[in-house]
Amino acid sequence: MSWMFDEHAHAGLEHLTAADVDAYDAKAQVDPVPDVQLLQQRGLSHRHVLIDFGAGTGALALQAALVCHQVIAVDVSPLMLTALRRKAAEQGVTNIKCAEAGFLTYQHRAPPADFVYSRNALHHLPEVWQVQALRRMGEVLKPGGVLLLRDLVYGFTPADTEAGIQTWLQAAPLSAAQGFPKHELETHVRSEFSTYTWLLEVMLDRTGFNIEASEFSASGIFAAYVCRKR
Ligand SMILES: C[S@@+](CC[C@H](N)C(=O)[O-])C[C@H]1O[C@@H](n2cnc3c(N)ncnc32)[C@H](O)[C@@H]1O
Repeated sequence: MSWMFDEHAHAGLEHLTAADVDAYDAKAQVDPVPDVQLLQQRGLSHRHVLIDFGAGTGALALQAALVCHQVIAVDVSPLMLTALRRKAAEQGVTNIKCAEAGFLTYQHRAPPADFVYSRNALHHLPEVWQVQALRRMGEVLKPGGVLLLRDLVYGFTPADTEAGIQTWLQAAPLSAAQGFPKHELETHVRSEFSTYTWLLEVMLDRTGFNIEASEFSASGIFAAYVCRKR
């Protein structure tokens, strides 16, 4: 359909170019262990299938694969999935299936999954399409299934937004060797689609999720939601 949102075009240049993908793990420094433990506390075990949307280079997928039956790693970036496949082969992990697709295009040809996970990917979609992505994540999840959603989501009031973003930018590391420098955070604010926590919470409700727990960074930039599909 000509009016469909182009997920690949908005996937973030840094996820589509080889040098940036090669540098991603060192820069992002993702520790997947706490989230896998959180999922285990919600019941994730060797009987279960987990779908990771926007799986990237697979930090969570590789760790979750050790404790569940299968992980389906969905990502629009072929290069990110190549990195994930390479790491899985190096680590001898054989129960991850990669799907080169987006939130809006992934076709799930299997029984509904038990768990869905997504970290720092939903903000690549504008809000209307975030709603559709949440709806589609609900469609691939069993009733009672768990969604753990993490993203950059602004916890500010409308009036506090500018000051909150300025404070975040001022705290950015000076170089890419130490993380995401200020100009990259500015790009995020300017051209990606982080929404407000109080809007995302309505979106989650309207797409059939109950929020069971939530966590917010002191900066007002990062949020996590543990949700159960109604
Ligand atoms: C910041 S990275 C996060 C990767 C991983 N979840 C992590 O926490 O390290 C964002 C990922 O989302 C993917 N992505 C962007 N837009 C997407 C979309 N519409 N559907 C699926 N994946 C998407 C990118 O290719 C990239 O791999």
